[in-house]
Amino acid sequence: MIAAETAATRDFLGLRGQVAIVTGASSGIGHACALALGEAGAHVAINCLQSSQDVAASIAAEIDATGGSAMVVAADVSDEADVERMFASVVERYGTMHILINNAGIQSGAPFRDMTLSQWRKVMDVNLDGQFLCARSAVREFRRRGLQPEISAALGKIICMSSVHQRIPWAFETNYAASKGGISLLMKSLAQEVAGDRIRVNAVAPGAIRTPINREAWETPEAEKKLLDLIPYGRIGEPADIANAVLFLASDFSDYMTGSTMFVDGGMTLYPGFRGEG
Ligand code: BGC
Repeated sequence: MIAAETAATRDFLGLRGQVAIVTGASSGIGHACALALGEAGAHVAINCLQSSQDVAASIAAEIDATGGSAMVVAADVSDEADVERMFASVVERYGTMHILINNAGIQSGAPFRDMTLSQWRKVMDVNLDGQFLCARSAVREFRRRGLQPEISAALGKIICMSSVHQRIPWAFETNYAASKGGISLLMKSLAQEVAGDRIRVNAVAPGAIRTPINREAWETPEAEKKLLDLIPYGRIGEPADIANAVLFLASDFSDYMTGSTMFVDGGMTLYPGFRGEG
């Protein structure tokens, strides 16, 4: 939904005119974050792989049509040169950037005994190396630009997309869970390192959100019922649920937060199986 009223109500966030890069923005949670940031008046760089450029262009057009401003930046986040080119092209277009939504991620599970090294590495490359490379470029750009107190109290904001699986072990998805566990300490260690520069680094840990990555888990009524057993709040999450948390972490409303993970999961990490059991 992009409506004039939404844009007006989001003005209070103070994101108007800030520049955000959203990685993996051509689908799912990234898509929702890009739209929400656009609605809040931010300039949005929509990152995607070369192969998804058409979809990304239509998302950019949607943001432009509502008076926002967006650009598409194709780059593989696990490729150092690509990431550097992406940041350079955003800085060339908008002068700088203030917000990184480190979102791009993939799943490629298998029984552990059958998991290939390339399958393990591919997930690590995108989910963990990708977040490292993008965060590093963001920190460099924030420091190059310097504080703009009229824009934000922080020098810059990094929001890492984690998962409930930074905490909940996940059989048959060991590479994915290991990458998300890695993101947790990457985020906190970086937050500790750059807090003195007024750079805030936080994470969002989504539960089961209705996106293409987990289609199998909600597509049929039987699958949906099984999934709902894991969610005390009784509904599957929507991408906008995550975008709302991201808006908060990107804005000065969270100015005293750094090194935190917001679990947005309908209570999945409350271990509902223990209700009246154990
Ligand atoms: C995964 C989804 C899964 C959810 C809850 C997410 O991080 O990407 O596939 O449904 O965690 O298990």
